[in-house]
Amino acid sequence: MAEISPKESTRPGLAPPEKSVDTGRGLSRKEFLLDLLIGLGLLFSAVGGLASFVRYVIPPKLGFRSQAQKEEVASLAELPPGEARSFLYNNAPYVVINVSSGIKAFSAKCTHLGCIVKWKESEQIFACPCHAGIFDTNGRVVSGPPPRPLEQLAVEVAAGKIYVGGA
Ligand code: FES
Repeated sequence: MAEISPKESTRPGLAPPEKSVDTGRGLSRKEFLLDLLIGLGLLFSAVGGLASFVRYVIPPKLGFRSQAQKEEVASLAELPPGEARSFLYNNAPYVVINVSSGIKAFSAKCTHLGCIVKWKESEQIFACPCHAGIFDTNGRVVSGPPPRPLEQLAVEVAAGKIYVGGA
């Protein structure tokens, strides 16, 4: 009786020989599944870490603030002409001023590198202490390196109270 050599068994029409999964390390099925789960866990951790890194490196659009909520920040009595009052809005620093052109509110974050600007009542300007950026009562850049005006919030005065946001 002739024996079928392994070469002959691959011919068309003949069933291929049974193959076993050779992991190359002689792993059992249990070890293989454990290695697979560990590998998937490491992969998901790496993807999560990468996503966090990308969010850190690429911050949200500069100057974006949700103005959905309207908040009372002061009463008119607390803000005499020429003066300013600081407040937090969406956990960020802002300043409301009472000037000849009306009551206005601006982000206190300088548009250059984010230092906190100070209101100078005697000069009616916002001055940045970091690189001498100057903004006028409309938030526009007067001098220095800031590339954009200060972010402005909508202001509403009703019943002697000053509200911001909600626009
Ligand atoms: S951070 Fe304000 S001028 Fe540079």
